[in-house]
Amino acid sequence: MGTPAAETGSIAKPATTKRRERPVIAIDGPAGAGKSTLAAYLARRFGFLNLETGAMYRALALKAIDNDLGFDDEDELLDLAGRTRIALKPQLEGNIVLLDGVDVSRRVRDGDVTAAASRVSVHPRLREWMVDQQRLMGASGGVVMEGRDIGTVVFPDAEVKIFLDAAPEVRGNRRYRQGVPAQAEVTEEAVIRELKERDARDRNRSESPLRPAADAVILDSTTMSLNEVLAAAEGIVRTHIGEPQLQ
Ligand code: DC
Repeated sequence: MGTPAAETGSIAKPATTKRRERPVIAIDGPAGAGKSTLAAYLARRFGFLNLETGAMYRALALKAIDNDLGFDDEDELLDLAGRTRIALKPQLEGNIVLLDGVDVSRRVRDGDVTAAASRVSVHPRLREWMVDQQRLMGASGGVVMEGRDIGTVVFPDAEVKIFLDAAPEVRGNRRYRQGVPAQAEVTEEAVIRELKERDARDRNRSESPLRPAADAVILDSTTMSLNEVLAAAEGIVRTHIGEPQLQ
């Protein structure tokens, strides 16, 4: 039995434990910073749901591609959103993404969808539509929600906010070594260039630009190992929920 999918329009069950023990953990940061790995780890470690909001922008972008829509016409995209069901099904290592009931988890990671998601996500009213869904999905707490605007817009009162950053060259190098994207002919330089382009769009858009919330803990992983990042973040959550620190 898997975890039930958090679907657009559905209301999560009310929390059965104290709010403090079922926090919203907001993880924001630029592409390739390791947010998904960290979110999956924290969710596993503390028994929370892991929700990747980027996958929702990716799913809508995919539907726009499949419907031959442009990415700049907000009215058209909003209309499309109104006819779309996006569900995230948290698994141990990430989310299964259901677009109108079809599993598009792999397809939404392709380069064309990645570029389209970055363009689709600049539109203010489309973002409002996404944010409404995301608030419903996280309403009862006990979630690690990952994205660009979780601590600033979606859950400004999130109990724990982590902004995960790293130098673009380091993020690009990690992505390249992970084999993302999978095409053999892609160079490390091209991966870094694409990350910088997405960074610029995410940071400079007028609506909900990527930036740390004033009360976020900033983890710069440029010179940190993965284990150091995971341990630091775990410590932050333990402090919040009152669990003793690991020695
Ligand atoms: O995290 P990701 O790479 O899957 O995100 C895909 C795109 O969606 C990315 O270009 C930025 C955008 N996004 C956003 O604007 N707000 C979010 N909360 C999550 C993602």
